[in-house]
Amino acid sequence: MTNLYSKLASVYEAMYYSFIDYEEEYIFYSNILKKYHKNGVLEIGSGTGNLAPLFLENGFEYLGLDYSKDMTEIAKSKVPEGEFIVGDMRDFQLKNQVQSAIITGRTISYIVEHQDVRGAFASIGRNLQRGGILCFDFIDANRFILDITKERNVVHEATHKGKTYQRRSTWDLKGEHGMDVIWDSKYYEKTGDEWEEIGKDHAQVRTYMLNEIEIFLALENFKILEVIDRPTYAFPTYVIVAQATTD
Ligand SMILES: C[S@@+](CC[C@H](N)C(=O)[O-])C[C@H]1O[C@@H](n2cnc3c(N)ncnc32)[C@H](O)[C@@H]1O
Repeated sequence: MTNLYSKLASVYEAMYYSFIDYEEEYIFYSNILKKYHKNGVLEIGSGTGNLAPLFLENGFEYLGLDYSKDMTEIAKSKVPEGEFIVGDMRDFQLKNQVQSAIITGRTISYIVEHQDVRGAFASIGRNLQRGGILCFDFIDANRFILDITKERNVVHEATHKGKTYQRRSTWDLKGEHGMDVIWDSKYYEKTGDEWEEIGKDHAQVRTYMLNEIEIFLALENFKILEVIDRPTYAFPTYVIVAQATTD
């Protein structure tokens, strides 16, 4: 697991709250679920629980699943009324099947190996009711890989609760399991005029081509209902809405 979701979980919490407009994320994903008449949702990669209160306040049945204990602990303390469990999307089994599953924030990027992609979609399919909806976003390799060959360095800055953070990242194409990349980042906190390094992270993440996503989903009996081009902070992203076609 990358440091960002363990040692740096509290820095993640501070930075991502500034990067992502969670109200907008909620509106976007809940509108899709409402369109398909779903009011129960499993959020995979629920992180520090930023979407959970919005789903709960609006009458959704909500369950969060994340493989990081640190992130889940933060989520539980922030949203005591929410249900969060620790689990790995590549292989998990819920007590009861759910109506829908969402994976936001390009979390699918952490699934790098082909077998793990198949494992994740197969697990999700098993835990969805027939006709259940899976909605997730991914970084579009067609645009992203060319972008990083022009500019490998990206700086993100965020201010949260009076503290200013910076993430200085470098991307390197690895191409070991498709269009996967090495993402090296250093995290800094600003004190006066100085930037103090507070942590490092090294991760292998996968960007996907739409075609391969179509194949992976078809192999696990999902039917694609919608493909939405939705650029979110910094990266070209597609959102997929797919339906489970088996029990
Ligand atoms: C980019 S964060 C997104 C968190 C949250 N959805 C948000 O928007 O703030 C990715 C999250 O996915 C979790 N994650 C990564 N790989 C996972 C896996 N195989 N199974 C479950 N959770 C995973 C990480 O622990 C992290 O909390």
